[in-house]
Amino acid sequence: MPFLLDLIKLPFLCLLEVFYFVFRCRPKKEIKGQHILITGAGQGIGAEFARQFADMGNIVHCVDIEEKLVNIVVEDLKSTGHKAYSYTCDLTKHEQVQKLYDDVAGAGFVINVLINNAGVAFARPLHEMTLTQIQHAMNVNIVSNLWLIKLFIPKMLELNEGHIVNIASLAGIFPLKHNTDYCAAKAGSIHALSQLRSDHIHTNLKFTAVCPFFVNTKMITGIKPPMTVSPEDLVTKAIRGIREDQEMVIVPNFFRVIKVIKDIAPSLLRSMAKNARSRGDINKFVGQRMSEKVQ
Ligand SMILES: NC(=O)c1ccc[n+]([C@@H]2O[C@H](COP(=O)([O-])OP(=O)(O)OC[C@H]3O[C@@H](n4cnc5c(N)ncnc54)[C@H](O)[C@@H]3O)[C@@H](O)[C@H]2O)c1
Repeated sequence: MPFLLDLIKLPFLCLLEVFYFVFRCRPKKEIKGQHILITGAGQGIGAEFARQFADMGNIVHCVDIEEKLVNIVVEDLKSTGHKAYSYTCDLTKHEQVQKLYDDVAGAGFVINVLINNAGVAFARPLHEMTLTQIQHAMNVNIVSNLWLIKLFIPKMLELNEGHIVNIASLAGIFPLKHNTDYCAAKAGSIHALSQLRSDHIHTNLKFTAVCPFFVNTKMITGIKPPMTVSPEDLVTKAIRGIREDQEMVIVPNFFRVIKVIKDIAPSLLRSMAKNARSRGDINKFVGQRMSEKVQ
């Protein structure tokens, strides 16, 4: 019976969602000459954010635990005339995060856009993870976001402008097998921004959660998802969403409709998910080999 009710409500809500997308014509703000801090900028989505924001005429502050990787990205940008700075920081260590803030602020830079992008996925059943691994995943995927927001938001509030972006995931909205820690952290990362948006509703600060499906980066090496998005495409769409002050950017777009199904017709989504699961396991992440790196 609930299944039947879900089915009746569904087309109307999907239509509403499609309507919003077809007819949206939001003004886009210009992001140029601004200081953008991007974590996890040594490769993948973070490096692509650095390239696209730099191409738009911004000064990019690239942060990563991997010194070599982030230096290559920054040197590459500088060699083509862009303004870029590199910082090595393990975001799981609060003293290093504090030092990162001190270095940036001490040099007189004011960060206008903060992109919390660094992330890790262990892709293991929770009961097979060690306590250290769970703590590590939470530290990178959500705690570091909160630390950085805590440090950079006071100046934004003082100036009454700024934009905070969390690169979350569709896994923060839908379940992803063997990724309990990851899903929990990404859901937290989305919800933290909802709360901040509400706390600062009377200011000009903006908050955007970016929720991609699988993106072709080293993070997903070893798995064959039904479809992937390129980092270039994802970042172009994310930047468009940021310029439009969108609260949530979902890529690909049609997952917005699936989100409506989840909100309105959870039983329908569950039966769809059961069918999808029987078509094979897509959760064989090996890219970052996190279980080998963190014991
Ligand atoms: N690739 C996907 O399919 C996908 C899908 C949805 C969401 N995401 C999210 O997008 C973000 C970027 O992912 P990606 O695909 O580019 O991954 P990636 O593995 O290619 O890049 C992640 C970067 O984060 C850095 N990093 C990891 N731990 C760190 C730490 N402790 N301190 C500082 N830097 C650290 C890594 O060195 C790396 O450069 C992540 O938050 C991820 O969860 C990715």
